[in-house]
Amino acid sequence: MAKDSLSVTDNRTGKQYEIPIENGAIRGMDLRQIKVKEDDFGLMSYDPAFMNTASCKSTITFIDGDKGILRYRGYPIEQVAEKSSYLEVAYLIIYGELPNKTQLDDWKYNITHHTFVHENVKKFMDGFHYDAHPMGMFTSTMAALSTFYPEAKNIFDKESRQTQIYRLIGKVTTIAAFAYRHAMGLPYSHPDNDLSYAGNFLNMLFKMSEPKYKPNPALEKALDVLFILHADHEQNCSASAMRNVGSSHVDPYSALAGASAALYGPLHGGANEAVLRMLREIGSKDKVPAFIKEVKEGKGDKRLMGFGHRVYKNYDPRAKIIKKLADDVFEVTGRNPLLDIALELEKIALEDEYFIKRKLYPNVDFYSGLIYQAMKFPVDMFPVLFAIGRTSGWVAQWEEMLLDPEQKIARPRQLYLGHGSRQYVPLVRR
Ligand code: CMC
Repeated sequence: MAKDSLSVTDNRTGKQYEIPIENGAIRGMDLRQIKVKEDDFGLMSYDPAFMNTASCKSTITFIDGDKGILRYRGYPIEQVAEKSSYLEVAYLIIYGELPNKTQLDDWKYNITHHTFVHENVKKFMDGFHYDAHPMGMFTSTMAALSTFYPEAKNIFDKESRQTQIYRLIGKVTTIAAFAYRHAMGLPYSHPDNDLSYAGNFLNMLFKMSEPKYKPNPALEKALDVLFILHADHEQNCSASAMRNVGSSHVDPYSALAGASAALYGPLHGGANEAVLRMLREIGSKDKVPAFIKEVKEGKGDKRLMGFGHRVYKNYDPRAKIIKKLADDVFEVTGRNPLLDIALELEKIALEDEYFIKRKLYPNVDFYSGLIYQAMKFPVDMFPVLFAIGRTSGWVAQWEEMLLDPEQKIARPRQLYLGHGSRQYVPLVRR
């Protein structure tokens, strides 16, 4: 009997099966041989929300949720956040290795020279209502980009894929900034190729009548670090959406719009926005205990937003870095008054039996919103900022899926528990 295998006895039939174990997993398809009768469909596994199902093999991001470890291509998040720039990290995530000087210069040049968008994209964005949510504008404009670049359909052409990757990473900042300017009723500000990735983004957001926008170096650095921290997080809801939509072999703009829509939800990238709304609702430090009590009693389905994670059952390592980063930002912007409420919430929650028992710790979204708000971003821009950083991860996940010979169009099974066949009843008899 092979050592790396699982012996299974089907008690319905008494039959025994040997199922190989590879990389700590069995293949779902190996269960299909387990049948009561020859014409049975075969055994399936039932796993709503993919709690214990690996949908792919990946070499991009490693997470150990119990120990609070996150690594991009093997490099600890703490090291890349401290020593690297977002574009360098994006290169690492997409191509698997840190770039040398020439590779990094070329990469930066190519991204920078794909930040401009077609003039019609502006017209398109002008059509949104004045109070349209920027994430809705961002998601639909990303989908619309596929109509500007029909050659992006050639997903098995390496060169075409490369061009779309430059465009996607280059243009997400422009489209995000245009969504903001539209919401503010301000004219769009064009990219400035002399500035860094984060610096140019600040320029497109906040430039007014000055001939040359000069980003504050501390804020530029903080934004760059936030992009690094959000760059990838293995098979989360939006990365899985990117892979699933992309598995139909649609172009990457359409797949990325699907990922962006997934990110929009309050349980995923919309949580940073929800944290800020929650802190405002609490209003002051003395109201924190009453709020925690309501959460614990499950009143109105209240959750402590920015707490808990499907994978981390320990302090999210990104939240630790962001908490430190907040001090640098507040030195420039002044302290965000909501910080006191957040610190009190964290303190009480971390000492509370309810949160300890369920291993609920602050996640990446708990403190990021406080920084964004101090930097003068409106609350509904927060998920868009998450999407900018995450674009490199989405692209890497998409390409890894496309080039994986084991992948096919994603198509889960179901357990059908509805009616058996029945006769149609005409309207007059119902
Ligand atoms: N506040 C209060 N209770 C919570 C929370 C919370 N934030 N999160 C989980 N719980 C409780 C939940 O009620 C359940 O309790 P019980 O066992 O008594 O029913 C238990 O903890 C397990 O929760 P779950 O919903 O089964 O866990 P999950 O892995 O399905 O959910 C989560 C993970 C992130 C959706 C959830 O923790 C949550 O809703 N958190 C708040 C939203 C949030 O901050 N999301 C950002 C996630 S990190 C960034 C990202 O991925 O975008």
